[in-house]
Amino acid sequence: MTLTPQWLDELRSRITLSTLIGRTVKITRAGREYKACCPFHNEKTPSFTINDEKGFYHCFGCGAHGDAIRWMTDQRGLSFMDAVKELAGEAGMDVPAPDPRAAKKAEAQASLRDVTQAAAEWFVQQLDSANGAPARDYLAKRGISEATRRAFGFGLAPGSRTALKEALKKFPTAMLVEAGMLISVDDKEPYDRFRGRLMIPIRDARGRVIAFGGRILGDGEPKYLNSPDTPLFDKGRTLFNIDKASPASRQTNRIIVVEGYMDVIALAEAGIADAVAPLGTALTENQLGMLWRMVPVPVLCFDGDAAGQKAAMRAATRALPLLRPGFSLAFATLPAGQDPDDLVRAKGAEGFAAILEEAQPLVERLWAHEVAAAPLTTPEERAALKTRLLAHADAIQDPDVRHHYREAFRERLDALFARARPERGPRVPWAPSGHQRGGGRRFLPDPRLQPPGAETRSIGEAGIAAPYIAALIGGLLRYPEALARHEEELSRLTIGNPADAELLAAMLDNAIAQEGLDCEGLLAILEPMKVYNRATTLLRADGMHFSFTRRLEDGEGADAARETALRDLDEYIGVLVTQPEIRARLAEATADYMRTMDDEGHARQQKLRAMDEDLTRRLAALTENSQR
Ligand code: UTP
Ligand code: MN
Repeated sequence: MTLTPQWLDELRSRITLSTLIGRTVKITRAGREYKACCPFHNEKTPSFTINDEKGFYHCFGCGAHGDAIRWMTDQRGLSFMDAVKELAGEAGMDVPAPDPRAAKKAEAQASLRDVTQAAAEWFVQQLDSANGAPARDYLAKRGISEATRRAFGFGLAPGSRTALKEALKKFPTAMLVEAGMLISVDDKEPYDRFRGRLMIPIRDARGRVIAFGGRILGDGEPKYLNSPDTPLFDKGRTLFNIDKASPASRQTNRIIVVEGYMDVIALAEAGIADAVAPLGTALTENQLGMLWRMVPVPVLCFDGDAAGQKAAMRAATRALPLLRPGFSLAFATLPAGQDPDDLVRAKGAEGFAAILEEAQPLVERLWAHEVAAAPLTTPEERAALKTRLLAHADAIQDPDVRHHYREAFRERLDALFARARPERGPRVPWAPSGHQRGGGRRFLPDPRLQPPGAETRSIGEAGIAAPYIAALIGGLLRYPEALARHEEELSRLTIGNPADAELLAAMLDNAIAQEGLDCEGLLAILEPMKVYNRATTLLRADGMHFSFTRRLEDGEGADAARETALRDLDEYIGVLVTQPEIRARLAEATADYMRTMDDEGHARQQKLRAMDEDLTRRLAALTENSQR
């Protein structure tokens, strides 16, 4: 007989626990829950609670804890199967007939688990051996104590293609491959998947090793290598540390989700045991379900940088359709560029707790994100904000929750725009005074300028996109006099492509001292150098149609064209240098505002956004001008 977890979940969900327990114990309602004097220990005041939504009972006095099945085994003294049969009868479900195929599968899983378990033990031995000294030092340097190392079962995979295979040769090779421990490609001899890595066992909810994460020792790629999906391991249905975090969460009534294994482990080292991590991917619906079975409002931690904020919104939008009354998410934002590991090391458990304190409810996070996402100056822009917010609400399937989200957004919109109304306009009597948002300081876009095209928008947050650098260098090759004028700014630019960085450096080194140097003169200087080829390529390229990347022509109008080109190039350099700085400050201001949600923070964030958009528009105007 095999009972799948899905079948058991279905069974639990069809049983109302309070009804079941209420048959033998006197229960009274207390808010969402029921209370009773605990039947497992002697007491006069009730500390036994029943939560029907979660399907669990819990006694704060003696720690008794369980679901409907556990109730039947522990309180009624039935065996597990008898408990299941009796409950199934009550729930109107058929107990699945014995299935030889499923039984075989379960047996196979058991033996694959023997493989992963044996591998875990062998990795631990390796770490404990003389060869493990550098790896043990590495852990010590990261502040991981021996106790934590043992609790998480850290091990070491030596830098060999055959060592594990040899050590586990009592298992058939095919099983080692199936468990993900060996790699088998084409008809080559299967070899060890994990080599030269610190090994972290990944366990299922019952604490059995089902897979591994391997961290490279020191630098190298990839930093983490995970077991592939196997019959034991489905990474979208697993949370790292669920086996320890789930019982811990019952004590704290909290579950924290962080990004990486090492974050979970660093938190455990600092005494915070109720943390889990997904395995290198965004949270899946299944993982959200696992979290909600532990607590109603899991706290997700994200980096305050742009990528972290994007990830937070991804998690938020994934959760919306699944929301139910009482179940939500909270979002804690870390200082930009820090993970929980960095934070607890710098500020201790209290520092981390302070970040959790400030976690935002999901509704707040969506609101803050959308308010910060675009300007709100014109009626159209304000209407667009409303559209975006209501789209989030519409994604919610549960009608009650959806209704309350719509209400919450409407109230906030009313309050926001009532406050933002100009001083001289008709005053709304209930609008709080002294909270003018930005007021007259708000940036007004120049209506003559067209909205930026997609191409111009591609100056990414990560830096200046390659075609812009190509255009810049093309312009400087044609008009070397701009080099001296902008020497300081140009040397501050971060250029991703090493060939371009080298070329610009050579131009700066050689051209500045030479007064009156023109394009031909500069090329003559560069000719003997390695960078010359790149220079001629960039001179030929004119992908973006700036005035300063057009071919130099003689004859009528040449002087005027030259003057325009030089002026445009000056402005272009100004924008290129300024925009990355503004973007960095904007990212910071957005993260700050997400945390504080105050008017001042919003005004600053919007001002920076307007500055960024202004720069983008100026850039677009430069290309458009030259196309006229
Ligand atoms: P990070 O790159 O943020 O690593 O990846 P980290 O957790 O800070 O690790 P340390 O502190 O440098 O040791 C976060 C998570 O993304 C997944 C892993 O699950 C990791 O914990 N990841 C990262 C991979 O799966 N593969 C990689 O190559 C890198
Ligand atoms: Mn880290």
